Amino acid sequence: MSDSATVNVELRNDSQPNRSYDIEIASHSLKDLGAKLVEIGLGKKSKKILIVSNPVIDNHYGATVEKSLSESGFDVAKLILPAGERFKTATSLQKIYDAALDHRLERSSAIVALGGGVIGDMSGYAAATWLRGIELVQVPTTLLAMVDSAIGGKTGINHPQGKNLIGAFYQPRLVWVDPEVLKTLPARELRSAMAEVIKYGVIWDRELFDLLSQCDRLDQLRYIKPELLQTILYRCAKAKADVVSKDEKEGNLRAILNYGHTVGHAIESVTNYRLYNHGEAVGLGMIIAGAIAVDLGLWSNDEQAQQVSLIAKAKLPQTLPADIDQDAIIACLSTDKKVEAGKVRFILPTAIGHVSFNDVVTSELVKQSLRKILS
Ligand code: NAD
Ligand code: GLY
Repeated sequence: MSDSATVNVELRNDSQPNRSYDIEIASHSLKDLGAKLVEIGLGKKSKKILIVSNPVIDNHYGATVEKSLSESGFDVAKLILPAGERFKTATSLQKIYDAALDHRLERSSAIVALGGGVIGDMSGYAAATWLRGIELVQVPTTLLAMVDSAIGGKTGINHPQGKNLIGAFYQPRLVWVDPEVLKTLPARELRSAMAEVIKYGVIWDRELFDLLSQCDRLDQLRYIKPELLQTILYRCAKAKADVVSKDEKEGNLRAILNYGHTVGHAIESVTNYRLYNHGEAVGLGMIIAGAIAVDLGLWSNDEQAQQVSLIAKAKLPQTLPADIDQDAIIACLSTDKKVEAGKVRFILPTAIGHVSFNDVVTSELVKQSLRKILS
């Protein structure tokens, strides 16, 4: 694979104009963002752009992006929001609206989200709603955002009562990925996002799974050669793009992206969001979903072992504390926002690269799988 790659997210239907867009993956490409935006037609009507970022990311990459946009003729303003999930709030959203007003953004102006999933989701929702929708460009800076959150148009903020309760489907015009920025990403963030990378291998892309299996370690960037990283980013983006193209609004198929997440969310919640971060909990959720699939005779022990081995290579946890409240996990499953008509719909692997939906998983079966990984 060459050192740049493009994935198209194809979004067309009879009633709507073409909203397809590209995910461009190229090393050292941050400095070329401005030229690319001109190439895709941004700036024809309005030259105004608002960059939204956080202090850490801005410190590393803000100046490069700002310079690139200014040199391409854009009138750039920048808003720096505090870092972290706890700031994915209506207050931060209001700050984006205020900055949009100050900078006099018009319908054809753009917001550039420079950051991880938190910045991307909030900026996306602001772009979806400001003047009923302005242009949006995602410049993901975490592995999670590159393979998942910047792609596919889910945008939103948290409500005090729950994550991502307020939001909209709103697709960007471009996703601009420069893998070089991952060099400054904290190792735990990289490991955590590896759970999502492994997820794509299990649910959609056997070749990706095999490529990952050939690596000795997946826990630090220095163990992953740049060409392999490029291929991983490409294959994950392609997997997400393929799924989103087929089912943009999560009517059915898109829900497979939640593999490992239902139990993962329950584990995060029952451990008060302190013991595991999101990706770590998703890794555990995948192990449990795999064990359920094996118990139901849907999946082989051998492939489940291969999945666990990848999770181990990413140095993600593979066991739960012996005293974890199993009943609380079961109770939590039934209040998950993905529950429909009172049924917990499990996504279970049937072969590497394939999953099926299943709504006959009993509480006892879940507990049986939980017990297998108690430490
Ligand atoms: P994040 O955005 O909080 O970023 C993680 C941390 O890494 C932050 O502290 C950030 O400052 C830092 N950081 C980011 N890029 C960096 C870089 N290049 N160098 C150094 N530090 C850097 O976390 P995340 O994991 O990217 O995103 C999590 C969010 O994404 C959650 O809010 C979740 O709900 C959302 N999400 C959305 C979707 C979707 O489809 N929209 C999918 C998955 C997750
Ligand atoms: N992260 C799940 C989705 O985008 O649908």
